[in-house]
Amino acid sequence: MHLPLSDMYNQPDERNLLDHMRQGVIGQPLDRPEGPLKVSGTATYAAEWRIDGCVEGVLVLASISQGQVSRIDRDAVLAREGVIAVIADPAMTRRPAQGMAAKAPQQDAAKVEYFGQPVALVVAQTFEQARDAALALPIDYTDADGDPVPFDPAAPGVKVEAPSSSKPVEGGDLDQAMQDAAFSVDVEYDTPGHASAAMEPHATIAQWQGDSLILHGSYQMLSYNVKEIADCLGLSADKVRIIAPYVGGGFGSKLGITHEAVAAAIAARELGRPVRVVMSRQQVFQTVMRRSETRQRVRLAADPAGRLIGLGHEALVSNLPGEKFAEPVTQATEFLYGGENRLLKVEVARISRMTAGSVRAPGEAVGMQVLEAAMDELAEKIGIDPIELRKRNLPAEVPVAGTPYSSRMLTQALEQGAEAFGWRARQDRPCQTRDGDWWIGMGVASAARVNMMVPAKAQVTLKADGSAVVESDQTDIGTGSYAILGQIAGEMLGLPMARVDVKLGDTVHPAGAGSGGSFGAISTGSAVMYACEAIRAKLAKALGCETEDLALKDGMASGGNASPRALRDLLNGEDIAETGTIKPGKTAKAFSQASYGAFFAEVAVHAFTGEVRVRRMTGAFGFGRVLNAKTARSQCLGGMVWGIGSALTEELAFDTRDGHLVNHDLAEYHVPVHADVPAIEVILLEERDAAASPLQAKGVGELGICGAAGAIANAVYNACGVRVRSFPLTLDKILPALPDPFARRADAAL
Ligand code: MOS
Repeated sequence: MHLPLSDMYNQPDERNLLDHMRQGVIGQPLDRPEGPLKVSGTATYAAEWRIDGCVEGVLVLASISQGQVSRIDRDAVLAREGVIAVIADPAMTRRPAQGMAAKAPQQDAAKVEYFGQPVALVVAQTFEQARDAALALPIDYTDADGDPVPFDPAAPGVKVEAPSSSKPVEGGDLDQAMQDAAFSVDVEYDTPGHASAAMEPHATIAQWQGDSLILHGSYQMLSYNVKEIADCLGLSADKVRIIAPYVGGGFGSKLGITHEAVAAAIAARELGRPVRVVMSRQQVFQTVMRRSETRQRVRLAADPAGRLIGLGHEALVSNLPGEKFAEPVTQATEFLYGGENRLLKVEVARISRMTAGSVRAPGEAVGMQVLEAAMDELAEKIGIDPIELRKRNLPAEVPVAGTPYSSRMLTQALEQGAEAFGWRARQDRPCQTRDGDWWIGMGVASAARVNMMVPAKAQVTLKADGSAVVESDQTDIGTGSYAILGQIAGEMLGLPMARVDVKLGDTVHPAGAGSGGSFGAISTGSAVMYACEAIRAKLAKALGCETEDLALKDGMASGGNASPRALRDLLNGEDIAETGTIKPGKTAKAFSQASYGAFFAEVAVHAFTGEVRVRRMTGAFGFGRVLNAKTARSQCLGGMVWGIGSALTEELAFDTRDGHLVNHDLAEYHVPVHADVPAIEVILLEERDAAASPLQAKGVGELGICGAAGAIANAVYNACGVRVRSFPLTLDKILPALPDPFARRADAAL
């Protein structure tokens, strides 16, 4: 689509900002500059910093789900060798901060709200001494008879509320549309809780210098995390510095500060020496954010031509009492398909499990997989190809709201993906294809994820020697921030990547967007672009040409009638440092902005056991300008692997007796491993979205998971005719409904 460029992000003029970005550096599948450090084990992660005099803290977790801590018997462990202190400060047992909250919620320290809630920290000379004492620390509870409150709105004690974070979308009369429909589905699905399960466990080393605090940690959003920790400790935010150059994954679990950061800071202040707190894998599972389990009712009403006249998507999610966050299950349903008669609604049940918060693609991850499975059910009822059903139902503007779309590559994704995948070979009806003991089937699903742009700053310095430095507190959580931000500066300043030094993950630098919501690259990247714009203006003046005529290539500047000069000469011994600032422009509200795509899966279902293997997957994605084809592809791949987990294996299992998380490690919580992940093809579609960001790029980090599990579930149905409406599709759910395994043989005999 074409947008007046004056509407873009408060730009005063109508120059096409991309005119001079033709060097072809942006978009290239360049390696990440920090890659060699990571594979050689020399990139320093949070727990690996060597700080003189540092002692070790281990969190002690509550072993009840509801009650009060009445006594902590410190003396029982203080006499142990190496044990320095047992600290139970109200601040460190607070819940983790939600993303971009900039503050941590209050909480009565003595009150236990879920099994696994931190209640104390044991500090010792060595990690082993601290862990041993933490396990031995006697804690008495009162009122510990409270049963865990389950995820069941009918159970006593469960309060169901409308969340403050989202309003229902209502239009027309859905009930009437369901009655009038030529074809309809009215189905209930459920999805379980998920863990982020980032590779690097949460860890913080805290040290005080006077009244200033320095944290080495693993966080996603440093400029917010500084405020959160300051809020917890009653400090002013400028007294806190966070250093996190490498972050081993986050997926939402490190958006806000978690207990180990607060505990380390408090202990370090109390003891007057640096303290390191590293969570064990089990502690990460038990105490930090989980994705809520959901129950979802989807109603689809279609006319005789297969056009939606009604759409309902209602979800029940959960969280602790008082938490604002409610998994925004219907987020993409709002804009994806038509149907003027609609009801989209999320309700939240208050239960006693650890805080529910953002886990990769909050909302779409579980909302899309259910919506897309229900769409498959509708396509079957109507008797049309599921791709055709989707293409027929793409509205001209967002239903009810009436907002126009900025750009939408869904049709192209469905068509190009289908072609590459070989969709034509799919059988319309289930149980048509056998390979030995395996039923074979294919499924499709749309992908959609809202696009967000958030405020960000970055500084770019063009140095006297003609090299450049990019500085921002933007994190790189394994996504490619270093590479992408370097590419943008390289593109704008005509420098090879080797001449651009990118410094990230330290709050001494200007506040970037942080890594969350798929907005890091486009937001902080746009700030880098603006900083370079300002540098280009100065260079043009020095050279004696108009800024738009300035061409920078390989360290040379030319433009207009000016004679070309080397950057180094032009700078005349002076650095030029400029800060770029980006904030959401008018287009943020004026357009519905989203990244789109399509998933295709081929699965095999064992005819006798119900075991499901994904045989191959294809994903085609359109998310505006591709900033780095390699890192973008990796995000899509990773997302689709998450989709396999969500479809087949991942599920938080809580003990109904005491509320503890049973599968609290990677041995028991099953993320897909190599043997579960087949060949995956990723197609990146060519697109520009001028409304989305000055870079004309949209977010991609979370897109690959948004609907992927739906394609797999649909393929399972197409293979064996079993429609499981409860994720994950484990074989115990498939087995009872499997058709006669010899049926195909009977067919063949006919
Ligand atoms: Mo994301 S779930 O905003 O890290």
